[in-house]
Amino acid sequence: MEKIWVKEIKAGDMIDNYFAVSEMKLMPFKTEKRQGENYMRLKLFDASGQIEGKIWDSEAAEKYSMLLQKEDVIRVMARAEEFNGAVQLNINKLKVLEKENIDLSDFIPSLPLSVIEKKYQMLKHYIEMVQDPDLRGLLTLAADTYEEEIKKTPAGIHVHHNYGGGLLEHILEVLEIALLEARIQENYIHKDILIAGVILHDIGKVKEYATDKLTFQVDEKYLLYGGHIELGLDILRELADQMEGFPEETFLQLRHIILSHHGTPEWGSVEVPKTMEAIAVHYADLMSARLNQAKLIIDGKKEEEDWTEYNRLLGTRLYYSNRNLEK
Ligand SMILES: [Fe+2]
Ligand SMILES: [Fe+2]
Repeated sequence: MEKIWVKEIKAGDMIDNYFAVSEMKLMPFKTEKRQGENYMRLKLFDASGQIEGKIWDSEAAEKYSMLLQKEDVIRVMARAEEFNGAVQLNINKLKVLEKENIDLSDFIPSLPLSVIEKKYQMLKHYIEMVQDPDLRGLLTLAADTYEEEIKKTPAGIHVHHNYGGGLLEHILEVLEIALLEARIQENYIHKDILIAGVILHDIGKVKEYATDKLTFQVDEKYLLYGGHIELGLDILRELADQMEGFPEETFLQLRHIILSHHGTPEWGSVEVPKTMEAIAVHYADLMSARLNQAKLIIDGKKEEEDWTEYNRLLGTRLYYSNRNLEK
């Protein structure tokens, strides 16, 4: 069956397609006529976005509330209708599909594979720029060992770069910003340490996020770990141990960048940055993350509005006017 993407659905469409379930809830009818009866509210998603669905038939709603589970993939027959300015599905029929026949890439948002491949080649190019043979060797080993993971891991689950290839995109952004800092402070910043620190700062994420689920989530194995910072230190140790005579001083510098890249303890940093390279990585990291976060919020804005909804994490709404930019 050809996939119909959530973002393409328009009011009036008759839909027969498959989506994943992220939420389901029985809701009581408020009208007197159907008092005591329930309907079901569902949140459905695929790689393109989310849509709400309703099962108005109360018998079917009760039946599916027993049957359906989060992350089930269901085939839905429905009519798309407009409700409060959004399109939602009025579901007539649904069927839970077998997990074996499901292609994860239909549900996990990701950069196109060709873009990921291009970005990975850019990463290799940065690694070749490194002059220090120990650092270049370590980075080459990291890229070879974790190539597949680096290509599909997001940089975050919710806040920024939250799509397959997101970590890779984030690393390249941080590299560009950090290398600008290296140019400005060229006598004080060790460029090779900086490049290696940027490439490895979030490397723990290749283990932290499970990539075999319908949504990105922290791998259960690592729930009691100290997040990607601790996992990153483990990976750094594992890589350095495979290199003969990797210098202890260089190892300590990289370790400090991983430990301190979140800047302050409230943001999960183990240490505050104490070297020029660690300070540079922290601010470049923050800049890449914050601007990507803002971009994603703006992408979710209604086109005809200039202001986004209030964002709890940023503590504000954002202003973005296409019209002003067109002048
Ligand atoms: Fe991080
Ligand atoms: Fe980061």
